[in-house]
Amino acid sequence: MFILNSSQMKEIDRKASQEIGIPEVVLMENAGFCVFEEIRKDFETLDDKNIAVFCGKGNNGGDGFVVARYLAQVCPNVKVFLFDENVTLTSKVFLDILKRLEVDVSILSEELLLSLKTQRFDIIVDAIFGIGLSKEIDGLYKEAIEYINGSGAYVYSVDIPSGICSDSAQVKGCAVKANKTVTFVYPKIGNILYPGSYYCGKVIVKDIGIPEKIIKDIKVKILTAEDLDISRFYRFPDSHKGDYGKVGIVAGSKYYPGAAVLCSNAAVQSGCGLCYLITPQEALYFQNLRKPEIIVLPLEGKEGVISFDSFVKFNEYLAKLDVLGFGCGLTRDLEVEKILIHILENFQIPIVIDADGLNTLSSSPKARELLASYKSQKVLTPHYMEAARVLDVDVKDVAKSPIDAAKKIASEFRAICVLKGSRTIITDGDMVFINVLGNPGMAKGGSGDVLTGIILSMIAQGYSAFEAAKLSVYLHSLSADILLEKKTMQTILPSDIIEGLNSAIRRLIE
Ligand code: ACO
Repeated sequence: MFILNSSQMKEIDRKASQEIGIPEVVLMENAGFCVFEEIRKDFETLDDKNIAVFCGKGNNGGDGFVVARYLAQVCPNVKVFLFDENVTLTSKVFLDILKRLEVDVSILSEELLLSLKTQRFDIIVDAIFGIGLSKEIDGLYKEAIEYINGSGAYVYSVDIPSGICSDSAQVKGCAVKANKTVTFVYPKIGNILYPGSYYCGKVIVKDIGIPEKIIKDIKVKILTAEDLDISRFYRFPDSHKGDYGKVGIVAGSKYYPGAAVLCSNAAVQSGCGLCYLITPQEALYFQNLRKPEIIVLPLEGKEGVISFDSFVKFNEYLAKLDVLGFGCGLTRDLEVEKILIHILENFQIPIVIDADGLNTLSSSPKARELLASYKSQKVLTPHYMEAARVLDVDVKDVAKSPIDAAKKIASEFRAICVLKGSRTIITDGDMVFINVLGNPGMAKGGSGDVLTGIILSMIAQGYSAFEAAKLSVYLHSLSADILLEKKTMQTILPSDIIEGLNSAIRRLIE
């Protein structure tokens, strides 16, 4: 399913009305009716309910007038609160109808809002702002939104909760906390990314009669099973380990031995033929948790951290690999930079760079330059903080526009960027996929190491870097969701995600 930004939605509305000739009133009528239908579905009876519809002066308010008209047909207690009588021409059509039908319409004022505190509404429809929100919420709008949030009513937002920016999903001062949001055509970014997604409650997407053919060049999608190539999960009966690829992982230190274990365990569990783990000797002290299928190439470390002199002894192994993972738990030691530069200068293996590999990129112009011109496939897997370091911006800037941040990283390094977060973003710099699976139980150190291991394994099995990234993000989250479905746990260990990977793969292919 595609995801739209506000200018794309405006362009779609414009084309539908101006090029195709579907009048704006028809679109508004359809949008309002869809919201009404959703409300009618949710409640057995509406005639005994007290209902308030808050309408802004833009077209979102117009959608609200339509909802109010339908509600007034089945319920005697519908009140419409209007912020400004100076509404758009299209909205005015429906405001006039309401007036002719003698629906209770009032202009909202501070006094009126104060008096509402003694009334109880069962249902509130928020049609104050949609995609037209252009500045911070203040004044009476702020007071009304606070009133709605404190009302105890079941709240429906039209298109997007008022106060949520549809392009960044950020809260502009304050926002309606809806139980349900009915959006149109396709979801907007603010319906999908956090914090907007939280304010939306359940998101329902409705068709308002806009012809599919005018919706073109949308480059952001929700990642679904249909976007995944699962062909390689069906194994040929006559196959051997060589057919499923060799993964190499450079990871771990005496400080973070677990990162190496998690990354390599995830790689073997998700199906690669062979997995070599190159890690300092001093990181092996609790390796009993490591799966025995992993081939360990211990090297002499330097105070517990990987060292360049011993690393280069493994050159011949590296040359045989199908993919190399670099970074989990390596620390920010200078030797790490030397090794990354050595790899980028001397090999052409597909590479997945995570954690300290990414930190090295942010501090080493040479590694950065080499990676940008590195000829093989590349995947970078930053979380928000690592992305901020790589881009040399504040982490708040990444949070405000994570899609742009991920695209920037992908473009600069000509790589696939997997920007990890509550909505992980996967992009090649052009097409963007947003993962909506997963749960907060996954928020734990080690989750990212597991994801890197899965991506490595998928590349080794023959998937392109982009396919591997999409598939791995999906499986990683699906595995965690299956664990929660079973209600056996409330928070999830990254090692449990690894153990659940086979159920996730089976769920995907069956
Ligand atoms: N404080 C005060 N006012 C604000 C603030 C703020 N923080 N932010 C924005 N506004 C004002 C704007 O200035 C604008 O008013 P103005 O036109 O007088 O300048 C108004 O709020 C815009 O608000 P919206 O109703 O959100 O924007 P718009 O009129 O573009 O409508 C729409 C949005 C089309 C309803 C969209 O959210 C939607 O639901 N789309 C689905 C399709 C649909 O419903 N179509 C029916 C309409 S057809 C058509 O529009 C072509």
